[in-house]
Amino acid sequence: MPPMNTNALKKQAGETAAALVESGMVVGLGSGSTAIFATRRIAQRIRSGALADILAIPTSLATEAAAIELGIPLTTLAERPRIDITIDGADEVDPAFNLIKGGGGAHLREKIVAQATERLVIVVDESKLVTQLGASWAIPIEVIPFGWGAQARYLEAIGATAKLRLDGGAPFQTDQGNLILDADFGAIADPAGLARQLEARAGIVEHGLFIGMARDVVSAGTDGVRHLRR
Ligand code: 5RP
Repeated sequence: MPPMNTNALKKQAGETAAALVESGMVVGLGSGSTAIFATRRIAQRIRSGALADILAIPTSLATEAAAIELGIPLTTLAERPRIDITIDGADEVDPAFNLIKGGGGAHLREKIVAQATERLVIVVDESKLVTQLGASWAIPIEVIPFGWGAQARYLEAIGATAKLRLDGGAPFQTDQGNLILDADFGAIADPAGLARQLEARAGIVEHGLFIGMARDVVSAGTDGVRHLRR
């Protein structure tokens, strides 16, 4: 059998995780090319009658548009402050299930949704599993446009190489109209400590380190799908 391509692995991970959703749940819908497979499968299960009374909260404007197109009933955190399950992707996952997220720039809304979630399920292809965060992925850091250069210099001062994220030559804008600095720290010895340090800095709206939040990781590789639990 030929090796499966990455997209096929993402599909397997997303669809496997979608089976964890049960009727009556409030569901957080993640963002990115892996989470969308879970969203599509949830929609399929609703259409087939396998799932009833689902209300979903999307983690980005792109996911919201997809959910509306797929006919998934939506709600808000104001109406339903407690989310039963969220299925989202990640850019890196370490052995303690700490994550780097924000490859798509949606990590602020993703973290708000994750913090309101009982069970955060991360879906990845196996290339995202790493022994140490940061070795091959920069941390996306959402900053407000005012004084963003000062945040870039701060990140450099604490050991990162920081690059303003661009989109077709112009600065990338988040769903909130903010900017992203991709901060490459190399392998991170103390992700929780770095997260605290970033949280203390004015102008940084949110960083892409998700510490101790994920409960499950569904990882698809050439040898099949693994469901890891914490
Ligand atoms: C978006 C995210 C994504 O979940 C993360 O970047 C993974 O994306 P993909 O599944 O497309 O590789 O955090 O902000």
